[in-house]
Amino acid sequence: MMRKLAVSAAMTSALIASAVAAKEPASTNADAWQRAEATEQKMTDAERVVMTSGITALPNAGDKIPEDAVLGAGYVAGIPRLGVPALKETDAGLGVSWALGARGNEGATALPSGMALAATWNQELAYQAGQMVGAETRAKGFNVLLAGGVNLVRDPRGGRNFEYFSEDPLLSGILGGYSIAGAQSNHIISTVKHFAFNNQETARKFGNVTISEAAARESELLAFKLAIEIGNPGSVMCSYNRLNGPYTCGSEWLLQKVLKRDWGYKGFVMSDWGAVYEPGFAWAGLDHQSGRSSDPQVYFADQLLTDAGTDAKRKSRISDMNRRILWAVYSNGLDRFPVLPGEKIDKAGHEALAGEVARQGIVLLRNERGALPLAAEAKSIAVIGGFADTGMLSGGGSSQVHGDGGPAAMIPGGGRGLFNGWEQYQRGTTPLAAIRKRAGQDVTVTYRTGNYIAEAVEQARKADVAIVFANQWQSEGRDNPDLSLPRGQDALIAAVAAANPNTVVVLQTGSAVLMPWLDQTAAVLEAWYPGVQGGEAIASVLFGDTNPSGRLPVTFPASLEQLPHPVLPGHTEADPDKNGAGAPGQQVTIDYNVDGSDVGYRWFARQGHKPLFPFGYGLSYTNFATSGLSVKGGKATVTVQNTGGRAGATVAQVYLVARGKVATRRLVGFQRVSLEAGASKTVTMTIDPRLLADWKDGRWSMPRTTYYFAVGENAEALSSPIGIRLPAKRWAD
Ligand code: BGC
Repeated sequence: MMRKLAVSAAMTSALIASAVAAKEPASTNADAWQRAEATEQKMTDAERVVMTSGITALPNAGDKIPEDAVLGAGYVAGIPRLGVPALKETDAGLGVSWALGARGNEGATALPSGMALAATWNQELAYQAGQMVGAETRAKGFNVLLAGGVNLVRDPRGGRNFEYFSEDPLLSGILGGYSIAGAQSNHIISTVKHFAFNNQETARKFGNVTISEAAARESELLAFKLAIEIGNPGSVMCSYNRLNGPYTCGSEWLLQKVLKRDWGYKGFVMSDWGAVYEPGFAWAGLDHQSGRSSDPQVYFADQLLTDAGTDAKRKSRISDMNRRILWAVYSNGLDRFPVLPGEKIDKAGHEALAGEVARQGIVLLRNERGALPLAAEAKSIAVIGGFADTGMLSGGGSSQVHGDGGPAAMIPGGGRGLFNGWEQYQRGTTPLAAIRKRAGQDVTVTYRTGNYIAEAVEQARKADVAIVFANQWQSEGRDNPDLSLPRGQDALIAAVAAANPNTVVVLQTGSAVLMPWLDQTAAVLEAWYPGVQGGEAIASVLFGDTNPSGRLPVTFPASLEQLPHPVLPGHTEADPDKNGAGAPGQQVTIDYNVDGSDVGYRWFARQGHKPLFPFGYGLSYTNFATSGLSVKGGKATVTVQNTGGRAGATVAQVYLVARGKVATRRLVGFQRVSLEAGASKTVTMTIDPRLLADWKDGRWSMPRTTYYFAVGENAEALSSPIGIRLPAKRWAD
């Protein structure tokens, strides 16, 4: 039941909120809390613990799977006597996940990676992508989508970066929030996850993140807060790691104080699968034990009643858990719009949307002498490597998506854990087939695997243009040990580029990689994991049918030494086969006080490091000029002009660059703008005051001083700043 919403360029979070509310009578959402209270009061004690735990709804996961379950991530029994539906949970944000093939050959529409979506800087598209995945979630019989991964990319080697959005709280919070709102417009619950600071997979199940409260609130917690404000998710999934001591799923500070008290969050906190270690997590603020057989014990369910005994405080906590779960159910209308079998999927429409995300998310990183778009005179093209004849690379782990029929190919990934096994390629028109189709009969297109450098070089030498596809796989449960392209691909590119000056590199990577061969190449495209229509999207950029408009949502470093942690914390202690788990008692500190709230480009600015490519960077086949920045009444206004010869899109980016005499670098507003050749447009962005403030003594705090802003097309190429005086201000979160 995908409800079509007219999404205009000017769609704001307020509009989205009213669109979401308009899906049913206004009273439904408003009275969700009262209804939750009323139902909770009717519950018996035995009923009160039913929804506090769930099972993994996959064969051999340790629990009997009820008949009405759909095979996928999880199942939570409902309370039929009170009309409360069972919760049927599936992963995840990039499409309904493949779930290790548990549902047979039935697949789903594979969106490009979260990083690709973030590279569009397009919140309307994020809404539509969420809406599409939500519609497929329903059609497959699920009513909970375990999406909304807004953890910041703190390190480019992080195994789940492909699933996340960006290194910036504003960009991640907005795109995450809009995609959650889109998903929930289908009368299902979406999560936001993994709360919080699960930014690396190494030691993910025992690592202790240390970070000051100020840095936490100003960085990743701000991304979560924005995503919750915009998306209003029914549930928050806490993470595996520890945070300043306790596990996040048992952190009273994080769950009770920050989330529920300070932010007034009404929904429920569910654990990640296998993240609960003690019954005390319930009293610390965890409302639901997910996939309970993945934990050492079932601590929730009946055990809660035993542990509560006659303790009034604990009993009222159990009531609170239920009200929160019921609020998520009622506020999204799960009871009034039950998931019924047989809802149709608009497969062609959904695939077209995945293609649109891919096209808008591809970033043109280098284009020497106008190498792209490919000239009509290029009569022979040597395509090399990257399984370009097979399919599109996808990210691994619980969020793995495949279309009908499953993977086009699986390459052993070398690990033994559940998720470590296989680098998987998605079906769809392959990049090679798409290039052949677009090139037409008059152009000779050859393909070599790239397994043998000599063979690739020989082919490249004979061709007018060489296109090398190079891939880096990322997966949940493992980080990339470094930022090289595996299997000798760096050497392959260097050799091909030496043989043919018109060498174009197309990257399919999870996030940033190093490019030791960069200067030798004619052009480089970053296609991320481009999803089911990725092949066509890449071809359309190569041949100029699409003018590239993606902008980097992460900094590409020039070396590992530039990162806050040149060696990933826990790298030497962790066993890569263990999916992030450790030996009993094993300890690793993941110290985020090194970069604090200066994640990504802010760290680079603070250290004066020159990256390979800065955050926000991306080229186009046309040119843009941005001018006339003014900041007034909490809004930034700027004029963008397309000064080149063809239509295209860019992203106006406004940064805070100094407060008084203190330099800083913070993205405070952005707007994607599409312009015909020669056209210009004035855009206005609202500046959230939290981006101008510090977290100090339990509040946001803005000093009275001059705030300097600059506009540009990335975090480094900025206009000369303008300053405005702002008064001191303090406020609660
Ligand atoms: C992941 C979650 C996912 C869950 C259920 C865990 O391994 O960390 O993101 O939602 O599994 O499949």
